[in-house]
Amino acid sequence: TLACEYRPGLEGVPVTQSSISFVDGQRGILEYRGIPIEKLAAKSSFLEVAYLLIWGVLPTASELQAFEHEITYHRRVKYRIRDMMKCFPESGHPMDALQASAAALGLFYSRRALDDPAYIRAAVVRLLAKIPTMVAAFQHIRKGNDPVQPRDDQNYAANFLYMLRERVPHSLEARALDVCLTLHAEHTINASTFAAMVTASTLTDPYGVVASAVGTLAGPLHGGANEDVMQMIEQIGAVAQVEPYVEKLLEQKARIPGFGHRVYKVKDPRATILQDLAKELFAEFGADDYYDIAVEIERVVVRHLGHKGIYPNVDFYSGLVYRKLGVPNDLFTPVFAIARVAGWLAHWKEQLNHNRIFRPTQIYIGGHDLAYTDIEERV
Ligand code: CMC
Repeated sequence: TLACEYRPGLEGVPVTQSSISFVDGQRGILEYRGIPIEKLAAKSSFLEVAYLLIWGVLPTASELQAFEHEITYHRRVKYRIRDMMKCFPESGHPMDALQASAAALGLFYSRRALDDPAYIRAAVVRLLAKIPTMVAAFQHIRKGNDPVQPRDDQNYAANFLYMLRERVPHSLEARALDVCLTLHAEHTINASTFAAMVTASTLTDPYGVVASAVGTLAGPLHGGANEDVMQMIEQIGAVAQVEPYVEKLLEQKARIPGFGHRVYKVKDPRATILQDLAKELFAEFGADDYYDIAVEIERVVVRHLGHKGIYPNVDFYSGLVYRKLGVPNDLFTPVFAIARVAGWLAHWKEQLNHNRIFRPTQIYIGGHDLAYTDIEERV
């Protein structure tokens, strides 16, 4: 007998008790450990937020300094990982490269001492430190160049932009990326976090946990949507083209990337912050049509679908910000992954505290005791 009815996509089915984050989809509220996202985005750095998510409290100044110092120290990746990346096809998607590289970290640091807080901390530090380095490294390697080594005098976000673009970023660029990372760090039980929890529940190593989550984030219904948004904006090309383009998509009953959410039925609070950030970056570094096209897409889509609770989600304005920061389209989702590692690790740690292996059930709809047909008689 079933304990509850079958809900496709597990919609509305609780799969854990968690104190990491909270979403109110009707009122457009997102909190990390009870603190509103707007406060964290305005006042904290991404690493401070990662610490908060993983250990449950905001770090003191000296705790944060020690954490940042450890992360800076562990940013480099083994040359064997870089050499492995050199064997990847340059046409491969950076999310696939990241998934393979995250799994490869487990080859080097696989001691599975899950009850040892020092092991947990070392794994957290290594993953947070090395994932950005691996994302930036693949970008250079696929172009036939050597990766740029991290710079210890640059903070987390600035160093990623430095490794990617080989120049020290403007402080507003670094701050903008840091805010994006904060906004993407955690979002309750989304698909990739659930994948991380399921993998964690087998008590495998954290590199395997993150690799399975990266594979899940890659899909177009999840993290991959930000890349599709930018493609759509590029295809539209001019504000006047928005209405016919969107209406054609709606006629075809196609999904508009960057809109709709399982939980939010109002505008995603992260989309509002990202829109402001995009505005600020365009004002400082020069405007192009893309921001105006995006605003017009929002207007047209909301006019048609607002009554169904379809509004911009986090992926709608993030691409505009990333593009302005010089991040190539197919690195948008890897940048999302850099941020979400914090949430995945928080859930990994929480899962270990109350672990029971995930083993749901099914409703079997196949036959029973069927006749076996020998191969030469099959038609
Ligand atoms: N464009 C047009 N119609 C939509 C959209 C959209 N983007 N999203 C939902 N709808 C419609 C859908 O057709 C359905 O209409 P009806 O009831 O008339 O059949 C209704 O809204 C409910 O849709 P659903 O598929 O039941 O909703 P869901 O909760 O299963 O899907 C979603 C959520 C995010 C997968 C979906 O909204 C979607 O495909 N959005 C586009 C892709 C996207 O932007 N993904 C990023 C999600 S947020 C960040 C992340 O997770 O990475």
